[in-house]
Amino acid sequence: MRETREHSTFGFHEVRTEDKQAMVDDVFHSVARRYDLMNDLMSGGLHRAWKDVLVTAVNPPRDGGAFAVLDIAGGTGDIAFRIVAAGGGGTRVTVLDINREMLSVGRTRAADRGLDDVLTFVDGNAEALPFPDRRFDAVTIAFGIRNVPRIEAALSEAFRVLRIGGHFLCLEFSAVDVPVLDRLYDLYSFNAIPALGQAVVGDADAYRYLVESIRRFPRPGAFAAMMQAAGFGRVSFQRMSGGIVAMHSGWRL
Ligand SMILES: C[S@@+](CC[C@H](N)C(=O)[O-])C[C@H]1O[C@@H](n2cnc3c(N)ncnc32)[C@H](O)[C@@H]1O
Repeated sequence: MRETREHSTFGFHEVRTEDKQAMVDDVFHSVARRYDLMNDLMSGGLHRAWKDVLVTAVNPPRDGGAFAVLDIAGGTGDIAFRIVAAGGGGTRVTVLDINREMLSVGRTRAADRGLDDVLTFVDGNAEALPFPDRRFDAVTIAFGIRNVPRIEAALSEAFRVLRIGGHFLCLEFSAVDVPVLDRLYDLYSFNAIPALGQAVVGDADAYRYLVESIRRFPRPGAFAAMMQAAGFGRVSFQRMSGGIVAMHSGWRL
C-alpha cells in the first residue's frame, strides 16, 4: 500500500503520510458548517439512500435491547442520528471524529433534538481509538476511511473494539465501471463539484481534494482483502448506483 510508505497521496498530489492528516483536517474545518447541505447538493440527495442501506445492515434492535455502535469519522453525526432513529430505546451511538468543528455541529444538533443522552461525541483518531477491546456491537465508517492516512491501522482498530460476533460496515465512494456513465461522472466530479464547493463553502480546493481522494481509494476487491488482513471474516461488498459507492461488510468471528 502506498499509505505505509514514505509518501501518501492527497488527491493527485504526492504528500508525505505524516502531512496528510493536517491537510484533511483543513478541508473539514473549512466545510464543517455546510457539510450536510453540500452532501445533498453534490449527490442530489442520493447520499441519504446510501446511508439508509448502511443503517439497515447495522440492524439495531427495535425491542429496546442494549446495542452499542461506534461511528468512526462520524463528522456531524448524520449516520448516528439515522441509527438511533432506526433502533429501539437501548441503542447508543458513539461518534468519533478527529475534527472538532464537525463534532461541534453534531453536538449542537443532538442537543437541539434532545438526543444528548443517546449520542456521545468523541474527539479522536481512527488510527488509535480511545476505547477498550470488544466494546461495541457494531462499528461503522461512512465516507471516512479514504481520508485516514493509515487505512490498515484504522481497520485493525475497528476490529479490536468490536465484540466477537459484531458487525463492521464501511460505506465509501468507489469506481464507476459503467461505459458512458464513467465519463459523465468524471465530468461532473471534476467540474461541477469544485464549482459547487466554491459557491457554497467558498472553497473549491477542498472539494477538488475530496473528488481526487475518491479516485485514489482502493477498488472494492482490494479493500475487501485489506479487511480480511485486519481480521474480519465473511467479508463482502455491494456496489450501489453504478459503482459510485460501495458498502463493505465484515464480521468479528
Ligand atoms: C466525508 S466526512 C464523513 C462524515 C460522516 N461519516 C458522513 O457520512 O456524513 C469524513 C470525516 O472523516 C474525518 N476524519 C478524517 N481523518 C480522520 C481520522 N484519522 N480519524 C477520525 N476521523 C477522521 C473528517 O474529520 C470528516 O469528518
